[in-house]
Amino acid sequence: MKSQDVRKQFLDFFKSNGHLIVPSAPIVLKDDPTLMFNNSGMAQFKEYFLGNGTPKSKRIADTQKCLRVSGKHNDLEDVGFDTYHHTMFEMLGNWSFGDYFKKEAINWAWQLLTEVYKIPKENLYVSVFEGSKEDNVPFDQEAWDIWKTLIDEDRIILGNKKDNFWEMGDQGPCGPCSEIHVDLRSDEEKALVSGKSLVNNDHPQVVEIWNNVFMEFNRKADGSLEKLPAQHVDTGMGFERLCMALQGKTSNYDTDVFTPLIEKVEQITGLKYTPNDVTLSGVEESEEQNKTNIAIRVVVDHVRAVAFAIADGQLPSNTGAGYVIRRILRRAIRYGFTFLNTKEPFINKLVEVLANQMGEFFPEIKSQQQLVTNVIREEEASFLRTLDQGLQLLDNVIAQTKGSEVSGAKAFELYDTFGFPKDLTALILKEKGMSLNEAEFDASMQEQKNRSRAASEVSTEDWSVLIPGNVETFVGYDKTENDVKITRIRKVDSKKDGILYQIVLDNTPFYPEGGGQVGDKGTLVSANETIEIIDTKKENNLILHFAKQLPENIEAGFVAKVNADLRGSTSKNHSATHLMHLALRNLLGTHVEQKGSLVNPNYLRFDFSHFSKVSDDELRQVEANVNAQIEAQLQLVEHRNIPIKEALDKGAMALFGEKYGDNVRMIEFGESKELCGGIHVKNTAEIWYFKIISEGAVAAGIRRIEAITGDAVKDFYQNQENTLSEIKETLKNPQDILKSVASLQDDNVKLKKQIEQLLKERVNALKTELEKDFQEVNGVNFLAKQVDLSMASTKDLASALGSSKPDSFVFLASIEDGLPNIHCYIAKELVAGKSLNANAVIKELGKYIEGNGGGQPFFASGKGKNATGITETLVHAVDFVK
Ligand code: SER
Repeated sequence: MKSQDVRKQFLDFFKSNGHLIVPSAPIVLKDDPTLMFNNSGMAQFKEYFLGNGTPKSKRIADTQKCLRVSGKHNDLEDVGFDTYHHTMFEMLGNWSFGDYFKKEAINWAWQLLTEVYKIPKENLYVSVFEGSKEDNVPFDQEAWDIWKTLIDEDRIILGNKKDNFWEMGDQGPCGPCSEIHVDLRSDEEKALVSGKSLVNNDHPQVVEIWNNVFMEFNRKADGSLEKLPAQHVDTGMGFERLCMALQGKTSNYDTDVFTPLIEKVEQITGLKYTPNDVTLSGVEESEEQNKTNIAIRVVVDHVRAVAFAIADGQLPSNTGAGYVIRRILRRAIRYGFTFLNTKEPFINKLVEVLANQMGEFFPEIKSQQQLVTNVIREEEASFLRTLDQGLQLLDNVIAQTKGSEVSGAKAFELYDTFGFPKDLTALILKEKGMSLNEAEFDASMQEQKNRSRAASEVSTEDWSVLIPGNVETFVGYDKTENDVKITRIRKVDSKKDGILYQIVLDNTPFYPEGGGQVGDKGTLVSANETIEIIDTKKENNLILHFAKQLPENIEAGFVAKVNADLRGSTSKNHSATHLMHLALRNLLGTHVEQKGSLVNPNYLRFDFSHFSKVSDDELRQVEANVNAQIEAQLQLVEHRNIPIKEALDKGAMALFGEKYGDNVRMIEFGESKELCGGIHVKNTAEIWYFKIISEGAVAAGIRRIEAITGDAVKDFYQNQENTLSEIKETLKNPQDILKSVASLQDDNVKLKKQIEQLLKERVNALKTELEKDFQEVNGVNFLAKQVDLSMASTKDLASALGSSKPDSFVFLASIEDGLPNIHCYIAKELVAGKSLNANAVIKELGKYIEGNGGGQPFFASGKGKNATGITETLVHAVDFVK
């Protein structure tokens, strides 16, 4: 059965049992600060389990793109080494939100596996929660009794809290679960060892395929459990593992989910991958082939995670989710570099295969194939350059190493600042007959982890609920002030922000950060006190108002007042973003799509797909177009709640990686139509004027424009005018400034030429003079001197002197701007014959001037902080030839 059909049959089965089929949510989560990526099918439904929202249907099923690479569920370092873990995988799931419970869930799971997919019953085992004294949760008798009607009792296994109590994080909804495991071993093996004994024992052919979670608890901050208001079902089946079972394979990588990607890697690298059946049949593999297999698995797994994350709008970057994506891609690049011998970008070439294979079900990968390919190619090229640079630096480290063991702290520095991986360092050292002090490396790594963990420590208290059962309403599209009551509060203590209180109101005019627009600031005012609201954010469908202190009387009535000035400026920037988006598409083409946006009171930042620099002329045209839309005084047309289909039919722009409901809000200004939840001006005339202040690249194929509107434009021009006046004054108020600047530039060029000439003469004169001072030491023509020249000229002089004599060793020092610099030239024949190394000389003598530097074995330079150390360097230079 082809993987496409496996997926379809799952969805059809649950559809026929009354489930609504919904699309996968984007991989990257928005509106949930506790989770970076969707790590399970249920993540997008968390708010329903918590009672903060109502689902479209009480029964839902889907396939969800998941990533388990950070936080509580992290498989990254295992991937490649086994045959059944992945960074990205699809999770097939069915849910009941307060509707059916254990009986239906278990019976359907069994029916689907054994009757629809026809997995032989004797290959299946199930597990049931044995109970936990610590949590005061009893053995799951109900699940046991249901399973007993379907399967022999000796195929039911009791499982502990680790395996059979599912929690998505340290806090939140959780419950006992029943897992279904499949035994894919050969009959001979089954006869030798019972499958039952291998369940949950990391056996690659006895694996869990489906988890049925019975959500009935909420884990609180103090670790205790409370009953959820209703009982839910949350199931998750590993799609790739199911395909393995149904396609008669023993490795996920041998299913048609991965084989087309593997074939492409084989074609690019000329290497061969060993299917798992061959390995299992007892064919002995060389160590090298084993490594090739691991590396190929790493590459074909990681490209999926990275490609889908980019398609869902998450570009690789240096922070947060973007950094996780970058790390995954780099892991793939270095496995390729080390074990597949790929020194050129190649992972990007797999995107086409992936798009052909999965594009039908996940159109986002097909329609953004080019962009995804470009971004990956650029990342690859840049990391390969880093690896190259790292190799050179590693050479320096080796040159400085006495003995055969390289310091772990030094190798960690390479890893930390250049991303040069530990395993690569270890491998290169091994090839050179050296070793790495791994314990020291690991200790440095641990220290750093501890530091960053301490910095990101957050403790979140449970909510104290003042008004239960209230669903907070947002009134901020119509009002900036409203009468409110506090419904719940919570204290959050973090290293980063200190103690903050999160306040939820019965209704609120405060816009929570979202869609690129920052959260509102303002005040809560009662008869007796005023509380500052410093930010507003959304979490699991609740709007949280952040304050540094709580009101004394939290039960009082308040007026919630949004800071209307800030919001006014923000809304101008937001509306201008829409106008610019349209202007860019009209001018550059419809390949322009929003890839990121920030809208705050000061400016707007807009990232979009476009393959080349936007020229100055094009930028002026965009500005002119937006300003024309402003001058046209276009009235805001807001459709607050229209069916998504209708909005799209009207031509509204939707974004990849954004989760839309059935009904959406559409914002129209003339021709500009976007799905958007943000705050806008009522008429484009309010924007006053639009001015682009910068344009640049963010990643391959992604440009960024920053622009300002309203008062910020006035300030901008005022500043320009002030600067111009200052320039005029500095130039002594000439009639024509441009002419006067041009003549200054001319003078500058002439003077530079003269100086260069003079310097050359000086260097030549010094050369002639110093040539007399060479001494013969141990057959080496040795010279060490301090000279009175700039750093650049000293360097030239060292070279010139060095090449004037055979077997020369020249060491020169000088002081520029109060700081010492040193240079060492060693004749090539000495480098080869006597193993002298200019790098090592600079490193060693650099200590006296508190400096460092480097270069090539035959010429190196350094800079320092302590000029008084020059004398010592001159004294000790001779040690090298002695
Ligand atoms: N949430 C459960 C899991 O991820 C079932 O979907 O295993």
